[in-house]
Amino acid sequence: QFNFSDFTQMKAIVATAVKMKSPVILGTSEGESKFFGLDEAVALRDVLCKKTGLPIFLNLDHGKSFEYLKQAIDAGYDAVHFDGSKLPLEENIKITKKVRRYADWRGVLTEGEVGMVGFETKEEYLTNPEEAKKYSKETKSDLLAISIGNFHGSESFKQQPNLNFDVLKNIKEKVGNIPLVLHGGSGTDSQDIKRAIELGAVKININTELRLAFASGLKESLQGSGEITPYKFLPQAQAKVEKVVEEKINLFGSVNKA
Ligand code: G3H
Ligand code: ZN
Repeated sequence: QFNFSDFTQMKAIVATAVKMKSPVILGTSEGESKFFGLDEAVALRDVLCKKTGLPIFLNLDHGKSFEYLKQAIDAGYDAVHFDGSKLPLEENIKITKKVRRYADWRGVLTEGEVGMVGFETKEEYLTNPEEAKKYSKETKSDLLAISIGNFHGSESFKQQPNLNFDVLKNIKEKVGNIPLVLHGGSGTDSQDIKRAIELGAVKININTELRLAFASGLKESLQGSGEITPYKFLPQAQAKVEKVVEEKINLFGSVNKA
């Protein structure tokens, strides 16, 4: 999953996926979707799907309430991530069930989360495999985001996450076939990403590396150039985002899978 909040980023992600014949998940957090617009994201996803023939899925990432996820589902998102990781497990389960019921009969996938993926990692944030089992059994969530030492934004803090594969194996053993999601993919060692995929991660989320690429491309093309024409200063930012997406698609092994 590649996050975006601007059409140049969206174009960069899709253009690269087309070039590499890779299916792709586009993601918007609550903040990103409020800036871009839920309806706008769906409409442009539809345009890009039609134009490219590529499987392009749209996910509402880290939704904190049923009400917001309902809006995303009603707008036409393909999947929603309910992030109830800060809630007590029972409350997390209760709201996930409600989200799933609403999502399910509209053909929308639900991603749940057990354990916490914040902007740092702590022992107590790690997913408890027993809790993950209870959660997945009771909610029947389609996907499950887990915390195994991964955290958001590590690339911008220049701190590489240290993934705990024993925890991942224990979770996998307890939850069975539910597809696992690894958040905070930016800045994670490539070998660790490959290992996580081998052990059951089917969706990896990348945001910070794309933001850094976009911002540095923009800075480079604007600084001192006096350029004011968006279609002249945006391509550099687009190219930088494309480079990151290409690296990740290669790493994730989704080339030629569309
Ligand atoms: O939900 C989005 C991601 O988990 C992105 O994390 O910004 O560290 O790549 P990241
Ligand atoms: Zn995340």
